[in-house]
Amino acid sequence: MRQTLKVQLDKEYNIIISDEKFSVLKDFIDIETKGQKRLFVISKKVYKLYAESLNLNNENTLVLNDGEKEKNFKNYLKIIEKAEETGLTRKDVIIALGGGVIGDIAGFAASTYMRGIDYIQIPTTLLSMVDSSVGGKTAIDLKDAKNLIGTFYQPKAVFININFLKTLDKRQFQSGLGEILKYAFIEDNCMYKHSLFLFEYLTLGCEKVFDKEPLTIMRIIEYCLNLKISVISQDEKESGLRKILNLGHTLAHALETASKYKKYTHGEAVIQGIFFILKWAYKQEMITYSYFRLSHELLTKYGFKEEEFKYTPEELISIMKKDKKAADGKITFIVPCDKKRVKEVKFTEDDVVKMF
Ligand code: GLY
Repeated sequence: MRQTLKVQLDKEYNIIISDEKFSVLKDFIDIETKGQKRLFVISKKVYKLYAESLNLNNENTLVLNDGEKEKNFKNYLKIIEKAEETGLTRKDVIIALGGGVIGDIAGFAASTYMRGIDYIQIPTTLLSMVDSSVGGKTAIDLKDAKNLIGTFYQPKAVFININFLKTLDKRQFQSGLGEILKYAFIEDNCMYKHSLFLFEYLTLGCEKVFDKEPLTIMRIIEYCLNLKISVISQDEKESGLRKILNLGHTLAHALETASKYKKYTHGEAVIQGIFFILKWAYKQEMITYSYFRLSHELLTKYGFKEEEFKYTPEELISIMKKDKKAADGKITFIVPCDKKRVKEVKFTEDDVVKMF
């Protein structure tokens, strides 16, 4: 199976989603990078598992450790130095092969090396397949602020091969489900021309998802990306509509930062953010009891549980204030306001204290 989606922004590119053999992926890479010198930036886990089948042993590669805490300035500089040592020029290309961390940091390096060279995203985790590999957000973290340094810089192509998911561990797979579930709550805002009824599809299709049934997984990735393409085509640089993709993220980034990027996967943190804001929206009578209950059931079905935070509201709020989504002394949350719809609400610090 193979699906091609087109992203048409100032820069146009294709996203190819497939379950074909890795030799086909290798061909896509060769065709897309014909005549270019290339540097692969790869996650250690992925390198160990796939270097041989992707025939990477003779390539210029930089292998980075896994985990959000690796998305830092030191590793960014390693990529830049490796690019220079490899002799990459403005005409050449960086290939990000790994999860969201690799995609974000390699994309950021590509966007700044020689004022910007091509990069290709080859996401290997569910989270990066359904979200972070598309849309051009690149970043590195500071110790006390996630994604604080970054650019909007679109890739040259995105190659998604769902066979990588066969070796993805359960926790990372579930982290990807966190971002997929997010799309179920914003589906109607995205204004995509067809509806899969994702909320209902996920409610009914849970078993097939956990079985990693290829057709189901391909369909979900394709649909979430179509929703995302619809959003970024209307607002590439997040001045309006794109903010809805941050549902759950205000609290998520605070939790990830407070725990020094060690306790939560990104998807787990996003789901805690969704639980939190659903409860608040229900208390404010912005959503009905029935939607609140169905939403809870959906998240629980996918193995997520609402947690008590071990951080004080003050600790979390001090991080939220530094987040790039905050402005004019206000903290922004994306809030469910109807079935499958959300809106942006700005809160004062005092308002946020009362939300806990
Ligand atoms: N991950 C949210 C976005 O790309 O805007």
